[in-house]
Amino acid sequence: MFIDSHTHIQISQFDPDQDAVLKRALEAEVSTILVIGFDLETSLGAVELAETHENLFATVGMHPHDAKDLTPDVLKTFRELLHHPKVIALGEIGLDYYRNLSPHAVQKEAFEKQLDLAEEMEIPIIVHNRDAYMDILPILDARQGQIQGVLHCFTGDVELMHRSLEIGFYIGIGGIVTYPNAKDVQAVAREVPLERLLIETDCPWLAPQSWRGKRNEPAYVRAVAEKIAELRKTSVGTIGKITTKNFNLLFKTH
Ligand code: NI
Repeated sequence: MFIDSHTHIQISQFDPDQDAVLKRALEAEVSTILVIGFDLETSLGAVELAETHENLFATVGMHPHDAKDLTPDVLKTFRELLHHPKVIALGEIGLDYYRNLSPHAVQKEAFEKQLDLAEEMEIPIIVHNRDAYMDILPILDARQGQIQGVLHCFTGDVELMHRSLEIGFYIGIGGIVTYPNAKDVQAVAREVPLERLLIETDCPWLAPQSWRGKRNEPAYVRAVAEKIAELRKTSVGTIGKITTKNFNLLFKTH
């Protein structure tokens, strides 16, 4: 059994065939899927979808790209949604210094406000990071012991992985690990302690090598698990079992 810990199956790319996508996931033994919000609309969409499917859970949060949209009203809505039984984390939140769609100061303010909310609600977080480890890690370090979560789609090197582990975070590995040139991510996948590993697709983006450039979907998380198993010289079943256990522990779903 596998859990896809990061998907966006609530967005329009999945409108034509969402049911078929969910069916293929079950056929690939992907038992649980986390639907991640990244603004108000997609957060509401994630909750709505999770309400109608037993094996789906949701998160709510404002992505750094849209940091300026985190108004007091939106924050209030997120606070209310965090009480929903199917909402198991806050995110994705973080910093993105690659696309820089919001000024850094605005991104940091939105990140800190949502970290405050996560602390207050005692709920784990899903962290988005792009070219911003130098700022994200000290921010999370300052709250060490107060907050837990996953650094999703981890693309740092082994040294950054160790720093992330020290502050208590899980490492989310996605389709990039299957790309031939992704040496850093492969090294991290080999060396991360198994009890801190989560697997994900980040679909519809970042499809594994066999489907690269096409729409990604939760069934393909199996290809991520297979690649990690190959790198670690273990079985895909072991990766599935341990990452499922980790997911349930972090998000308290069992
Ligand atoms: Ni995402």
